[in-house]
Amino acid sequence: MVVPAAACIRVLMCAVPFSVIAAAASGAAAAQDPRDERASALAIQAGRDTFRQFCAPCHGVDGKGHGPVAPVLTTPPTDLTSVKRRNMGVFPLATLEAMLTAATRLQTAAHPMAHGSEQMPIWGPTFLAIDNGPTLARARVANLLAYLESTQQ
Ligand code: HEC
Repeated sequence: MVVPAAACIRVLMCAVPFSVIAAAASGAAAAQDPRDERASALAIQAGRDTFRQFCAPCHGVDGKGHGPVAPVLTTPPTDLTSVKRRNMGVFPLATLEAMLTAATRLQTAAHPMAHGSEQMPIWGPTFLAIDNGPTLARARVANLLAYLESTQQ
């Protein structure tokens, strides 16, 4: 039993410091550069503007689903502040990005939600037109998602 125990200790000695270093490094990187903080504050602010303009009529200014248009919809708009909670604590960034850049109504197993609805607009073509092409449209969606993520409760 001497050999496995020794192997175990070696594994622990390697694994623990490495994970500690990795955690410390990523924490430091997140807190270090004030430009990152400013960039993400600006992204959230821009995303909030897009949200108020395009989403709040149905989802409400607070995102909880009670916008002025909501009462006339047969399917109530979703509470967008609980997306993360309803998705087992993970904000589904890629799924939402796919949904908000979709060119057509998608309804697949991977995206069973909003796309199929007659009442939830498709945003891909709208943003492409407003932003004059995909580069700014993608930036708009990234900002919108940064804002939505910041509103999760
Ligand atoms: C015309 C009303 C309307 C507008 C405007 C609207 N939505 Fe929706 N949205 C809905 C309705 C209704 C649902 C629920 C039914 C469904 O999922 O299709 C929904 C569902 C969603 C969902 C699915 C949430 C989930 O967890 O299942 C997301 C995400 C979403 N909307 C995001 C947005 C964003 C972002 C905008 C602005 C760019 C927006 N919506 C604008 C009506 C709207």
